[in-house]
Amino acid sequence: MLIARDKKLFKSILKEEHVQEHLRVLKKHHKETYYHSLRIGLLGIKIGYKNSLPKRQIKLLGYAGLFHDLGKLNVHKKILSKSFPLNDDEKKMIKQHPRWAFLKLIAFKEGDVKKIIIQNHEYGKDPYPRKGKDRRETKREFEERRKKDLEIDKLVQIIAIIDMYDALAHKRSYKEPLDKKKISEILKKEFKGDKIYIDQILNL
Ligand SMILES: [Fe+2]
Ligand SMILES: [Fe+2]
Repeated sequence: MLIARDKKLFKSILKEEHVQEHLRVLKKHHKETYYHSLRIGLLGIKIGYKNSLPKRQIKLLGYAGLFHDLGKLNVHKKILSKSFPLNDDEKKMIKQHPRWAFLKLIAFKEGDVKKIIIQNHEYGKDPYPRKGKDRRETKREFEERRKKDLEIDKLVQIIAIIDMYDALAHKRSYKEPLDKKKISEILKKEFKGDKIYIDQILNL
């Protein structure tokens, strides 16, 4: 059940003018992505509270959830709504969306939100922009970078698990919603982050 502090913080973020502006454009471009982004923002805040994170980090989760797919504004709505598999060029284009979101938010004062967004597809089955293979090849470098940024990494994992969960739990142009049991199976197989977040999202 939604508790008041989640709603209150979410509403206060939604009132910010720049947030409204981004969301207005996104809603016009692709409604499904818009509603998905609202859900990710709210769930981000909920999981943030559940983990007793500092308020600043919870706010970052709210922003990152709302903005994580802003880069899809650069992808034609016909591609976003396709009900059959994407071709290679289309896949390549979709994979640009974290970078494009980063660029759209270049002037945004909360720089950490951009860091979360650029990495939020690195914990799935087919990670990008950094692929699993690249990660293994530069493991030491990767670990050093990660150590420096453990706080951000935690937030990235939270947005990643919520994003994966939401895509599985809701109808998309290419698939029907799945039940909890199936979602749990897929997340356990495909989510590369801390497994604790799988239980948290399934038991919200
Ligand atoms: Fe995305
Ligand atoms: Fe998403």
